Amino acid sequence: MKLRNCKVTDYGQVVELLRLSWADAYGFIPQKDRESFLKTYYTKERFEQFLENELIECLVFEIKKKIIAWMRLEEIPSYGEFHLSSIYVLPNSKGNGLGTRMIKYAFEVAKRKSYNKIWLGVMEQNLPALEWYKKLGFVFVRKEPFKMGETEVIHLIGYKKL
Ligand SMILES: CC(C)(COP(=O)(O)OP(=O)(O)OC[C@H]1O[C@@H](n2cnc3c(N)ncnc32)[C@H](O)[C@@H]1OP(=O)(O)O)[C@@H](O)C(=O)NCCC(=O)NCCS
Repeated sequence: MKLRNCKVTDYGQVVELLRLSWADAYGFIPQKDRESFLKTYYTKERFEQFLENELIECLVFEIKKKIIAWMRLEEIPSYGEFHLSSIYVLPNSKGNGLGTRMIKYAFEVAKRKSYNKIWLGVMEQNLPALEWYKKLGFVFVRKEPFKMGETEVIHLIGYKKL
């Protein structure tokens, strides 16, 4: 099992991974809102644009052809920032160190590209992830509204110094 770059043919499995992970982590958001966000945000077209964009890196962990974790990294040149835009491990594969392996890889990519911080947003109700990020050295510095479907939540925005 290793972390590899995402391919166009991974689309269906990545969407299913997001559907399951969001149901697991975002139970406080109605299913119809999670589903409408997934359908409008993660279209096949947008997924292909992620893969073609040289400022974006999408990675997956695969075991026996099954994708069990996914991460998207993004450089935002206008802000001079490096973002961890998405990190999800399938619910039944959580707690096995995959998230740590992925995020450490993200730290290395950011450092290699000469960024001294990595930024992310986490919903304030998502306490397990928030605690996990804090344990890894992230500090949260501001709040921003984030809309998933019709539901508005608060995103805590934080960074880790590299
Ligand atoms: C958050 C997440 C990416 C972490 O990945 P993971 O593979 O489960 O985490 P790891 O196994 O690498 O965790 C490592 C450590 O965090 C601890 N930990 C804290 N919260 C945890 C949780 N909810 N689940 C599993 N481990 C957790 C583990 O005990 C472990 O500690 P240790 O290294 O001292 O033994 C993953 O649990 C996940 O996808 N969660 C649901 C979706 C989500 O919230 N994504 C983030 C959106 S902002």
